[in-house]
Amino acid sequence: MPTLTILPSGKQVFVAEGETILQGLMAAGAGIEPKCGGKAECASCHIYIHDGRKTVSKIQRAENERLDQIIGIGSKSRLACQAKLGAEDVTVEILGFNSGI
Ligand code: FES
Repeated sequence: MPTLTILPSGKQVFVAEGETILQGLMAAGAGIEPKCGGKAECASCHIYIHDGRKTVSKIQRAENERLDQIIGIGSKSRLACQAKLGAEDVTVEILGFNSGI
């Protein structure tokens, strides 16, 4: 079961393989309120993945289109509601959850 490390606090939670990073963040009590219910529509779950990007599911079209509309997007950007964990540990940074459009 992979470990999800959440920056800047450094809090760690175990998340089942195949679950989304958003599910892990919510289980960790990260204070996230997904405005669109996890449908890649609001971008309120924009995060940076610092470690473990290769183990996370690939970006699909809807996520890519939404990311293109976000200010502050970088090569580490993902939507936590769309990124599913693989078998290895992942470190993410919470970006304030108001970076969406
Ligand atoms: S929760 Fe809306 S895009 Fe992820």
